[in-house]
Amino acid sequence: MLLSGCVGFGEEYTRVEGFSNRDVGAIVLKGTTLNPRLGNPPHRVYETPMGMLNAIGLQNPGVDHVVRRILPQLDFTETRFIANACGSTIEEYVEVTRRFDDSRIDAIEINISCPNVKEGGVAFGNYPDMSARVVEACRKVTRKPLITKLSPNQTDIRENARRCIEAGSDALAVINTIMGMAIDVRTRRPIIGNIQGGLSGPAIKPIALLKVHQVYEVAGPARIPIIGQGGITSAQDAIEFMIAGATAVGVGTALFYDPLVCTRINAGIRAYLKEHGLRQVKDLVGALRTGKDTQDVPLAG
Ligand SMILES: Cc1cc2nc3c(=O)[nH]c(=O)nc-3n(C[C@H](O)[C@H](O)[C@H](O)COP(=O)(O)O)c2cc1C
Repeated sequence: MLLSGCVGFGEEYTRVEGFSNRDVGAIVLKGTTLNPRLGNPPHRVYETPMGMLNAIGLQNPGVDHVVRRILPQLDFTETRFIANACGSTIEEYVEVTRRFDDSRIDAIEINISCPNVKEGGVAFGNYPDMSARVVEACRKVTRKPLITKLSPNQTDIRENARRCIEAGSDALAVINTIMGMAIDVRTRRPIIGNIQGGLSGPAIKPIALLKVHQVYEVAGPARIPIIGQGGITSAQDAIEFMIAGATAVGVGTALFYDPLVCTRINAGIRAYLKEHGLRQVKDLVGALRTGKDTQDVPLAG
């Protein structure tokens, strides 16, 4: 899947030679609020070792514009399109979800984990009670598949996942960006206009992998799929996430320097399956071997 905020509203990469929406399982559109938002003051992005900080601040044209003007332009035969619903209040999340429910969108991801807005976002996602209240309220207004995007910026992601599942979430996206900052030593000012930003890219992969492993402890038995994400740039990364418990994987930051990365990842996964005599990726999901007896024993291939 292509991740929210990294592909605009599904049209951006179609201009790149060799790129096709058909090469990915789904595209998550940019975070959408009830009213249009201009986003945060610059700088909004900053490159860090093995990653990037961003604080876009949910710039978007508002849900009406997305539903009426943008969705009709998308070719739903190419792939699945998923909305990313955001809000400052529970009522706003509900209203955005309701509008998307009455549209062609294939699924709705509730973004309770955006670290870059003053109200809403992680203010909901960092507290299991608040997360569950948002999910429960959105669940009441849609029958479309509901994905909850969890925040890594919290003490126990398992408890949050459990509460979101109980509240009616059909799937979990793990993880959103991790809060960070950068300082210009010349001016002694924060580089990011919003002071803090969300860290993404390979720098966060080990953290994301652990969070997927932890969420799988509750989501696995409940048969709730996880969309693993955070720093995936290669087939090996994607496979690691699946072994940790992800049913699907998402790519965001890697697209900025290699828009065709998904074709490479898909080919690499196919090669791994063949090499290991596996018929489907499903056989990899949660296939982590943690018993002492299995240590250092290589598998087939
Ligand atoms: C520039 C940028 C904008 C983003 N905007 C959103 C957003 O609007 N909604 C959201 O849920 N996640 C947003 N994210 C988070 C990504 O969807 C993704 O969860 C995160 O970057 C981790 O994946 P990655 O390391 O492959 O980028 C954004 C990330 C970046 C880099």
